[in-house]
Amino acid sequence: MLLHIPDVLTRDELSRIRQALDDADWTDGRETVGLQGAQVKRNQQLPDASPLKAELGKVVLAALERSPLFFAAALPMKILPPRFNRYAGGGEYGFHVDGSVMRLGGGGQLRSDVSCTLFLNEPGDYDGGELVVSDTYGEHEVKLQAGDLIVYPSSSLHRVTPVTRGARLASFFWVQSMVRDDFQRSELYSLDQTIQTLRARLGESPEGVRLTAHYHNLLRMWAET
Ligand code: NI
Repeated sequence: MLLHIPDVLTRDELSRIRQALDDADWTDGRETVGLQGAQVKRNQQLPDASPLKAELGKVVLAALERSPLFFAAALPMKILPPRFNRYAGGGEYGFHVDGSVMRLGGGGQLRSDVSCTLFLNEPGDYDGGELVVSDTYGEHEVKLQAGDLIVYPSSSLHRVTPVTRGARLASFFWVQSMVRDDFQRSELYSLDQTIQTLRARLGESPEGVRLTAHYHNLLRMWAET
């Protein structure tokens, strides 16, 4: 499931993050990829050990906590501390698949089920920089407003097209979901949204209560905790 979640960050958070990134020390983005990725990746990132990365990452995580849509779509069990990247001067990232198992600081590991890109500046600030996600339905091009998030299955092949004017700033991170299967997760999301819509239209109803029970019983059957 490819899902656009608008307005994850507030205007204040965006300007705070962008100001901090203006003065940031960037490093070569190939630091954090494997061999295949290194051949096609040309961008910059905040170094993994950078205190600024940790500080801004907390702002992003707090924003995710406020987003019921993110929770419903990703059903997060663990989230990799958010990273930050910058594409400029023709920078791009060719087709690749994200690493399947990632190390968390403190010794744990995370299985990447859901990939997330949070756009930090406006689409008019740069040319190119589309995220292209390829799945069984074809290729989808994504370029969102500042503060908007796209979530997509980590199993997909995807790329970022060359940025030929200006700079593209984004935060990116991975989620290990309680429900690892993309189809099951999408069905749960769709059921959840249907229940919310029905409740808004009809108020509480016995059928709404039953549908909610179906949702939780499916989640109980599929969730790892
Ligand atoms: Ni990727």
